[in-house]
Amino acid sequence: MASTPESGRATGGAARAAGEQDPLLDIEGLTVRYGRAQRPAVNDVSFSLRPGDRVGLVGESGSGKSTLAAAVLRLLPASASVTGRVDLDGRDLTHLKPSELRALRSTRMSRVPQDPLGNLNPVFTVGRQMSDVLSAHRSLGRKERTATVEEALRRVGIGDAEVKRRSYPHELSGGMRQRVMIAMALLNHPDLLIADEPTTALDVTVQAQVVELLRERVAEAGMTLLLISHDIGVVAELCTTVMVMYEGQIVEKGAASEVLTRPTHPYTRSLIAAARGRASGVGDSPSEMVT
Ligand SMILES: Nc1ncnc2c1ncn2[C@@H]1O[C@H](COP(=O)(O)OP(=O)(O)OP(=O)(O)O)[C@@H](O)[C@H]1O
Ligand SMILES: [Mg+2]
Repeated sequence: MASTPESGRATGGAARAAGEQDPLLDIEGLTVRYGRAQRPAVNDVSFSLRPGDRVGLVGESGSGKSTLAAAVLRLLPASASVTGRVDLDGRDLTHLKPSELRALRSTRMSRVPQDPLGNLNPVFTVGRQMSDVLSAHRSLGRKERTATVEEALRRVGIGDAEVKRRSYPHELSGGMRQRVMIAMALLNHPDLLIADEPTTALDVTVQAQVVELLRERVAEAGMTLLLISHDIGVVAELCTTVMVMYEGQIVEKGAASEVLTRPTHPYTRSLIAAARGRASGVGDSPSEMVT
């Protein structure tokens, strides 16, 4: 078994500072298989996050990162079969009713999905969709909802919130849609934020802004963060702990400063060597952080 969740090194500073606190998210032996696929997409994964932890999950394309995120929120397609345990605050999510899960999503745990366009409804304005997320959990009047949505958009750096609120997803730039997804994920102040490649497909300038935005919002709310990315530079900037996923398993875990400078698993070494190569090729890449 290659899953070594608590092996070797100490976990990150945030986890240590949290001391003996109970885990917020506790995953044990999680396995996900799509249809009749020969290999599970997530294979016997175990790890826990304590309140305030900021953990990066890196790994090559297809290693199972998004599947793991979707499994935590129970947002997998019907073709997926799941075994193992996912506890949020001591409650096993794998046995909750859909209505119980809906009550937890957005307020206790929230996801910034990898594909904003695919996760926004093309026929409703972004303001309407944000408003729906709000009213699913809080009873607010129309004016109050509008004000909350506009404020949420402003807080992710969308200045003309009154106009953008009325826009349809296709009328926004990729970077703006990414910001809308972050605003939406934070609307109901979740304890756990799972951000799945929130900076992928953004140009370097916008990427830096989104990283800064996530840093601010996570710090200000003391949120627990699971950041999925194949960009170890972004992870180095935001996370204290790093987990490396390879073929559905977590093959390495430890303090970001350790894993990113002295990786032990051969796959992690090649991942970091590739990031260093990119950093030396592109002068201002955030991957330079890794060196
Ligand atoms: N809906 C699905 N149906 C069938 N197989 C799927 C589905 N979603 C993902 N998979 C398969 O599960 C495996 C893991 O995919 P996943 O999307 O979790 O990887 P990832 O690490 O997020 O990759 P990327 O970095 O490209 O986003 C892949 O082999 C993928 O083809
Ligand atoms: Mg993915």
